[in-house]
Amino acid sequence: MQQRGGLEKVGGLALGLAMGAVWLVGLAQPRTPTYYQDVKPILEAQCVGCHKPGGIAPFSLTEPQDAVARAQLIVAVTASGRMPPWPPGPDSPEFLDQRKLTEAQKATLAAWAQAGAPLGQK
Ligand code: HEC
Repeated sequence: MQQRGGLEKVGGLALGLAMGAVWLVGLAQPRTPTYYQDVKPILEAQCVGCHKPGGIAPFSLTEPQDAVARAQLIVAVTASGRMPPWPPGPDSPEFLDQRKLTEAQKATLAAWAQAGAPLGQK
């Protein structure tokens, strides 16, 4: 009897830990990124200087459908560091106003594309 009570306690503890872990994961990823809330500000800050109608890049990223249609490609070029172009290279010292995405911004773009590139609320 003693022993079984002990096992139940261990089981209860394991369940408590599991629920705590689920709660923590929920805190770390509060919601799916959306175009209007998360992606548009990144594109506006880092991409549309070139990716605009008449810009030097071959296509525009100013409209929601531009970004949605190229979500996977955007993730590929930002994850690899090819875009935004940064001629000083990845190992250069920091510059003011440098054109670089943070790891968090890259992760936001990836999570957005993964979720099917939702537009969200304006
Ligand atoms: C300094 C100007 C400039 C900026 C800033 C810039 N791009 Fe580009 N981008 C270009 C040019 C020029 C090309 C076409 C030549 C090439 O593919 O390298 C291009 C090509 C691309 C392509 C097509 C790649 C392919 O394989 O067809 C994607 C996708 C892209 N850019 C996404 C982005 C994203 C996302 C950002 C912002 C994070 C960004 N770019 C910022 C100039 C820019």
